[in-house]
Amino acid sequence: MATIVGAVTTSHIPAIGNAMANGLQHEPYWAPFFDGYERAREWLATARPDVAVVIYNDHGLNFFLDNLPTFAVGAAPEYSVEDEGWGLPTFPPYRGIPELSWHVIETLVEQDFDVATCQEMRVDHAFVNPMRLLWPDRTPPPVATLPIHINTVQHPLPKTSRCLAFGRAIGQALESFDDELRVLIVGTGGLSHQLDGQRAGFINKEFDEMCMAKIIDDPGALTALSIHDIVKLGGTQGTEIIMWLAARGALGDRVDKIHGSYHIPVSNTAAGLLVLENRAQPALWY
Ligand code: DHB
Ligand code: FE
Repeated sequence: MATIVGAVTTSHIPAIGNAMANGLQHEPYWAPFFDGYERAREWLATARPDVAVVIYNDHGLNFFLDNLPTFAVGAAPEYSVEDEGWGLPTFPPYRGIPELSWHVIETLVEQDFDVATCQEMRVDHAFVNPMRLLWPDRTPPPVATLPIHINTVQHPLPKTSRCLAFGRAIGQALESFDDELRVLIVGTGGLSHQLDGQRAGFINKEFDEMCMAKIIDDPGALTALSIHDIVKLGGTQGTEIIMWLAARGALGDRVDKIHGSYHIPVSNTAAGLLVLENRAQPALWY
């Protein structure tokens, strides 16, 4: 059976890719941000994942407003890398694992999550930057990848409770895969930020710290928040916290916090990182 070793939840700000491309990691602006990832990489060396399941929100690259699934699961042999804005060199494609993808899709549909299935899928900064932070010397990384998208671009977005349940269903699907794979969950997005409108630049440290604490020990408490509560408290793009909720849902009911860091600002965003090791196997809800 596959084992979920833990989760890394992290911001995915496009400027991270630019900083890496230009070697700015040790500059005073960037050092406090990049330093946090050393501990994550140390943990990864002991966790030894074979596969990274990356729960992220596409930003208009693979899906656009004319055709935007709420939940979509990659089922491609490889995922090509494209991004917006910075003119960065593109990377070779990320390796997929279609047999695991189809098992996850079948289990999700069985559990009433009628996901879109993507036998072709392009990935953006929300997938690529976290992977490059975790494996800075290896692009593509030494793991197979399985991208899972949750819509945060066009309302209505899925409810917080639905995202936590989606994560639980993903966890159940992975743990019922009949192979000795070690699986890392990566949840990307947030924390508080707003990129447009009158509140552009909005950040809410108190809200972010509350979310980071609850994600670890009491993720169910965050399902009391509606999407509109999150917009109000965490900004329009702060809704990306639902990726963290889904990632946490894939773990058992008990986790160990290996590392957490929080830094304001990176670009327009409060940057957060959590490294959680999975403890309970299997979780009580199965
Ligand atoms: C920024 C953050 C994001 O999550 C994103 O998708 C795009 C831009 C930013 O802070 O600049
Ligand atoms: Fe984003």
